Amino acid sequence: MVARSRGLIRWPKLRDATRTRGTRDALRLRQRWFGSPFSAVEPLLPREGTILDLGCGFGVFAATLALGATGRRVIGLDVDAPKIARAQAWYGHLPNLRFVVGDLDHDDLPEADAVVIYDVLHHLHDADALLARAARALRPGGVLVVKENDVTPPWKHAVSTLVEQVAVGSGLTRSAPVRFRSREAWAEAITRAGLVVERAEHLQAREGFFVPHSVFVGRRPVAPTPAIP
Ligand SMILES: C[S@@+](CC[C@H](N)C(=O)[O-])C[C@H]1O[C@@H](n2cnc3c(N)ncnc32)[C@H](O)[C@@H]1O
Repeated sequence: MVARSRGLIRWPKLRDATRTRGTRDALRLRQRWFGSPFSAVEPLLPREGTILDLGCGFGVFAATLALGATGRRVIGLDVDAPKIARAQAWYGHLPNLRFVVGDLDHDDLPEADAVVIYDVLHHLHDADALLARAARALRPGGVLVVKENDVTPPWKHAVSTLVEQVAVGSGLTRSAPVRFRSREAWAEAITRAGLVVERAEHLQAREGFFVPHSVFVGRRPVAPTPAIP
């Protein structure tokens, strides 16, 4: 299934809210925003409650969430301390957003109403272990939103593989060996983590057109599923 969507947060809102310093920061922010469909993913998250953005990088999506609804309390977490410092400088003044340094391979996660893992799972040593911990961090009824790079169409997959090689090889992105998976494989992994997969779609959007995107929404059941006798 292919979803074509655009959310309500537009580039001027994100740009005007930032406190970037200098041309390099401004270019980096612009490049990330126009390189990925943040605006299309933002409406998949609830408008209220605590949201963890795991592997938030420079905090562009965390800021998109915080600007999208004041009822959200957004916590952005990343292992890369200089990136978190940048995120803090750019968006740390937003009242419903904070950033922390943390390692997704080891650290405990606080309880949350929603968790988002945006372009991060393919960078981890053990993505399945993180999915399981994210599922446990969710309150009953809470949602997990995952954005991954899809593996189709092949030409976009080739572009995204190259982009990731450059980002990891140049030291811009901290990463274990990059491992992409098919949409079906991620949906199975989210199910194995104990969540009900409500959406598993290829996403087409104007931003990030040259990279293939897939999005997933998993929900933690309100009552535990009864065991099959
Ligand atoms: C491609 S970037 C995505 C950043 C952000 N989610 C975005 O979409 O702009 C991947 C991020 O995962 C982070 N990361 C990789 N391994 C991590 C780990 N073990 N713990 C926390 N963050 C990690 C990297 O530091 C990097 O910021």
